[in-house]
Amino acid sequence: MTSAKSKAMLTGVFATLLTSTALAGEVNVICSAEQPWCDLMANAFEAENPDTKVLMVRKSTGETLAQIRAEAGNPKVDVWWGGTGDPHLIAAEEDLTQPSGVDTSKLLGWAQNMHDISDGKTVGIYAGALGVAYNVDVLEDKGITPPACWKDLTDPSFAGEIQVANPNSSGTAYTELATFVQLFGEDEAYRLLAEIGKNVNSYTKSGSAPSKAAARGETGISIGFMHGMVKLASDGFPLKIVAPCEGTGYEVGAVSIIKGAKNPEEAKKWVEFALRADIQSRAPETGSFQVPSNSNAEVAEESPELSLIKLIDYDFATYGASETRKRLLARWDKEVKPASN
Ligand code: G6P
Repeated sequence: MTSAKSKAMLTGVFATLLTSTALAGEVNVICSAEQPWCDLMANAFEAENPDTKVLMVRKSTGETLAQIRAEAGNPKVDVWWGGTGDPHLIAAEEDLTQPSGVDTSKLLGWAQNMHDISDGKTVGIYAGALGVAYNVDVLEDKGITPPACWKDLTDPSFAGEIQVANPNSSGTAYTELATFVQLFGEDEAYRLLAEIGKNVNSYTKSGSAPSKAAARGETGISIGFMHGMVKLASDGFPLKIVAPCEGTGYEVGAVSIIKGAKNPEEAKKWVEFALRADIQSRAPETGSFQVPSNSNAEVAEESPELSLIKLIDYDFATYGASETRKRLLARWDKEVKPASN
């Protein structure tokens, strides 16, 4: 090969390498929804954007907040998609996320509210109510009367039968903690949670784990989001869902762009994609039955009908504030966690 020819070939190789590096974008996403929905989103995004690779990990909401705090200044994550809204609001307040500049006009009020109170740094993608599930077979075998109210969970007949997540790592469990404080007042909430704690067999890392354990009969009762319970019941597990008599709280799942994201254009594209009606309408394919935030998205038949549940007027501004979360978690660590067996 003449040197001129080999030089030309090498230039060709370098040119291809350079072009492919320039073309191949990426977006680093932390997904705090359920794994099958995370996978569907990543695949659907890549199918529409063949030059962009989605690098995704699944982490619980509180864990994600801890990671983006630790990486502030040199973020490795571009977008945080899914998970309960309070920690997204806290990230916004702590200046860990940035305004996305997306159009929110097609979104329902509760989703726009997240956008408004965070100065555009987060926005709602779905909603879901908190509830209690029990395994019919387990309770029947043990002769235990099912609960109907939050307060019932303090009954000694449930000793060792309740599973719920840890609010430090799980957004679901933080929603539960904030719901108790709003329903009963702070001191009474902690007294009740410590009483219930005596019946808790395990505080899990992720919010959906307790209902999966209840479905398999590993625990009699779980606390979690009703849409996750509905999915397990529709899969044929013997789970019954209870909307507690005192009323209950709810989440507004959110999406945020991390401040200083290395791939801001792709991150914005992701948020726009995640807010689209056609994309949100695909969630039920993965058994994700939250209520979608886009007013034109299809609501799955299985989605719990929020208007039929006695919901509290959840105060996102207060419970999505950094100071409140710090105080409530410190008190939980001191008064509730040690009460469990
Ligand atoms: C499940 C639910 C979501 C919720 C998420 C929170 O995936 O389906 O609606 O946002 O849990 O997860 P975490 O592990 O933080 O409680």
